[in-house]
Amino acid sequence: MNSFDLIIENGTVVTASDRFTASIGIRDGKIVQIGEKLEGAARVIDAAGRYVLPGGIDSHVHISQPQGPGIEMADDFETGTLSALYGGNTTVLPFCLQEKGQPLRETLKAYHALAEGNCYTDVSFHLIINDPSDSLLGQDLPALVADGYQSLKVFMTYEDLRLSDGEILKTLDVARKTGATVMIHCENEDAIRFLIEKHELEGDVKPRAHASTRPVAVEREATHRAITLAEIAEVPIVIVHVSNGQARDEITRARQRGLKITGETCPQYLTLTADDLDGMDWEGAKFVCSPPPRDEKEQEECWIGIENGTFDLFSSDHCPFRYNDERGKLSPKGKTSFRHIPNGIPGVETRMPILFSKGVLTGRISMERFVELTATNHARTYGLYPQKGTIAIGADADIAIWDPEVSRTIRHADLHDASDYSPYEGMEINGWPTTVILGGDVVIDNGTLTGKKGQGKYRSATPRKI
Ligand code: URP
Ligand code: ZN
Ligand code: ZN
Repeated sequence: MNSFDLIIENGTVVTASDRFTASIGIRDGKIVQIGEKLEGAARVIDAAGRYVLPGGIDSHVHISQPQGPGIEMADDFETGTLSALYGGNTTVLPFCLQEKGQPLRETLKAYHALAEGNCYTDVSFHLIINDPSDSLLGQDLPALVADGYQSLKVFMTYEDLRLSDGEILKTLDVARKTGATVMIHCENEDAIRFLIEKHELEGDVKPRAHASTRPVAVEREATHRAITLAEIAEVPIVIVHVSNGQARDEITRARQRGLKITGETCPQYLTLTADDLDGMDWEGAKFVCSPPPRDEKEQEECWIGIENGTFDLFSSDHCPFRYNDERGKLSPKGKTSFRHIPNGIPGVETRMPILFSKGVLTGRISMERFVELTATNHARTYGLYPQKGTIAIGADADIAIWDPEVSRTIRHADLHDASDYSPYEGMEINGWPTTVILGGDVVIDNGTLTGKKGQGKYRSATPRKI
């Protein structure tokens, strides 16, 4: 009888802290041995010349999230997780949006029904708290955190989603008591409204105005306020999708005061600019997301945050809409003004290849830092570590084998999401994950899908220690 179901040998194994050449022995979905030379497996993968990394974890994706009337998100759990898998991810964390007045258990039930049997990667959910009533904060949320739903997002922007400072404080207080992790979208909604009205009065309604009405100051102020609220509530928080140096510096200053603030940035803030929203014939709508891409100086500031450790998480904020579609970016209302263009861009498949190519292969960050930013810190932040996010004995055998010699040009036609464009179209990329292993099963084998829909399972999370 074989000792292992699978051995991966001769590859360079990289974790957030170490890099070594070793054989990895896998049995019953787990990593059971790491050694110089292992023998006796049903299958052996020779990873010579390739990197053997923990499967990517993208902790910021939107899938099947209900939108306003007439608008539909492009990806469901099948296409969203398939695209994630091809990009080297083995776990994604989508958001479950609470409708106003909806009990959270109903919200979760609906998302579980959408995900069940349809996923190619493992999934774990975040909640979006839209209606922080006394009963939600007093009973429902604490019970759910205890049941393994440990992370939630609150918004300071979007008319129909934003919470007041008082509501955020009360939510943070529950997080303090229960060990929940709160992610905050930091943009000042009143300032944005003011700027939108001004631009519309001047007849400036094109997609580019989306960026002009959400300037850096709007994000910096809200980031400062979110951190202040967390300081008052005495609880750690995650500042998501930071787009610029001024908001980044708010995190740095807070840490200097001893606060526990986790920072996240995304590929769009390293590679796109507000000028991309200027495209012909409303093409700029393809790049409308919030916060908006900035300029080259701010791209560099975000790189600095990646290099110096201010950012702990590198996520995609995958939020896909089709472009040429009445239910997407070119909805009838979306064509009348930037304010109605659905916010969000696809990117779950290209997240890691972009950072690998532009960060690791250029020498800006080490392989270890790459693993930390794309897998390990996501597992640590959202209660999935050490089962996920590392290569260690006892961990899930979720592994991506990267070939640094592969060169590709990003073309949406080659990607697997259900949108009809990529904001990164034409970008030259070096390095790509060619083989992906989920729970010990080879699910992408040298670029060919061998996994099955439904193979990805739901994973509950452990709350923060309090
Ligand atoms: O524009 C974006 N980022 N849409 C997704 C929702 C969010 O705020 O993360
Ligand atoms: Zn957000
Ligand atoms: Zn998002």
